[in-house]
Amino acid sequence: MATYDLVVIGTGPGGYVCAVRAAQLGMKVAVVEKSASLGGTCLNTGCMPSKALLHASEMFEEAAHSFAKMGVGVSAPKLDLPAMMNFKQQGIDGNVKGVEFLMKKNKIDVIHGRGKILGTGKVEVTGSDGKAQPVETMNIVIATGSDIARLKGIEIDEKRIVSSTGALSLDRVPGKLLVVGAGVIGLELGSVWRRLGAEVVVVEFLDRILPGMDGEVARQFQRMLEKQGFAFKLGTKVTAVDTSGKALKATLEPAAGGPAETLEPDVVLVCIGRVPYTEGLGLKEAGVALDSRGRVQIDSHFATTVKGIYAIGDVVAGPMLAHKAEDEGVAIAEILAGQAGHVNYDVIPGVVYTTPEVASVGKTEDELKQAGVAYTVGKFPFTANGRSKVNQTTDGFVKVLADAKTDRVLGVHIIGREAGEMIHEAAVLMEFGGSAEDLARTCHAHPTRSEAIKEAALAVGKRAIHM
Ligand code: FAD
Ligand code: NAI
Repeated sequence: MATYDLVVIGTGPGGYVCAVRAAQLGMKVAVVEKSASLGGTCLNTGCMPSKALLHASEMFEEAAHSFAKMGVGVSAPKLDLPAMMNFKQQGIDGNVKGVEFLMKKNKIDVIHGRGKILGTGKVEVTGSDGKAQPVETMNIVIATGSDIARLKGIEIDEKRIVSSTGALSLDRVPGKLLVVGAGVIGLELGSVWRRLGAEVVVVEFLDRILPGMDGEVARQFQRMLEKQGFAFKLGTKVTAVDTSGKALKATLEPAAGGPAETLEPDVVLVCIGRVPYTEGLGLKEAGVALDSRGRVQIDSHFATTVKGIYAIGDVVAGPMLAHKAEDEGVAIAEILAGQAGHVNYDVIPGVVYTTPEVASVGKTEDELKQAGVAYTVGKFPFTANGRSKVNQTTDGFVKVLADAKTDRVLGVHIIGREAGEMIHEAAVLMEFGGSAEDLARTCHAHPTRSEAIKEAALAVGKRAIHM
């Protein structure tokens, strides 16, 4: 008899949520975690610390630039970076303790150490003392997440050349920060350090920022960031960083070829994506296949190529997002309990937590055009939204994309403050296959920024009231 019904390797949002759901469904569950701290990338070096710094740095900027016009007189704010980092750490600790509590509450055993899969039903866990312990289980879920992608020839020392992890813990504000990659991390952490005083230059290989997001949204968002002081070098790559001198010397080349230029940043942040993390898991020996991009290969029920072994989260295909990992964790737990666990990949919101925020769910215009789907667009700017006007936070707009024939909402894209909170009414509507008309006829409280969503839905039928 196996000791456990389920052993989950990794306690990020995919792993710990899977464990909790499985325990709720009556399974005897253990989680294996190689790090001293539970919660994975998200809680320790990802979502949570970045959001704490985004919040604190936004307050810093607001105090300096927005309070006075509202009649709130404060002297020029002074940055206490160690205190801000302490604020960040308290947030991490609080959330990690929360996961520890959930493990206890749900009677989930926590086994500290590096998990290695020996085959169906067999995991070996090696602790920090080097001692290996066998664990027997009916099922195994791999939830080992992802790691930073590296640039060939550019070594990350997490001091002067940093990944997101180092960028979350710099001990001083860099004079000049060179960000490599205009994706989510580059724009979020670039925002943090720009607000705190750094000059930020973002180098992006492609000719646009935020690939994957709606093109119009990305273009407008880039203009807003430029107004804030970001400099972008699109269609450009960083080919080398010379660390021999006191100042770093970064070589930049046009992606299409051409003469190189040199920049002298204090810190380089490399954020060109993340790669699945499978190191030391013993997958090859166990016969668990990977796809061409090194992700654990799964079928539509999260099953790997070996019986009784499943995988979820960043280590498998799909958007590398905490909520996608969580939902997959719930789905596989339910499948293992004989239920119909399922994730709707068409309705996974994506949010960039900058100011303003960018939030998106469903198809972009580019995707609909490419798929040859006839669609209608309803757009509404926050300049015409009463609440945004009184708060003087009118940057951005809401865009609703609906099927031209059926009026079914296919995508919603928002730039604006609190967009990350607002996007979910669109997600719920889309889960129910709702139409722009449904959204337009739903009573929205006044005055809220969410009324802009209703107005954008009205605009699909060319009948927005306040525009
Ligand atoms: P992870 O969270 O990576 O957890 C994997 C865990 O497995 C780790 O704890 C690791 O130590 C453990 N592990 C690995 N191998 C073994 C082994 N052999 N044995 C034992 N344990 C092992 N996503 C969002 O949705 N919103 C955000 O705002 C957001 N912000 C981010 C900001 C940054 C800076 C970064 C880097 C990422 C951010 N993400 C965000 C992405 C998010 O962190 C990931 O999508 C999410 O953490 C993936 O969850 P996971 O459970 O698959 O893996
Ligand atoms: P990303 O995939 O979002 O962006 C990477 C960017 O780097 C892309 O624009 C890409 O074109 C560019 N790039 C790639 N190679 C390059 C090169 N050699 N030179 C210049 N540019 C290059 O990846 P990022 O920002 O590293 O984030 C990793 C993951 O973490 C993302 O998949 C994201 O989903 C997740 N994340 C999510 C957040 C959120 O939901 N708010 C916040 C932060 C991270």
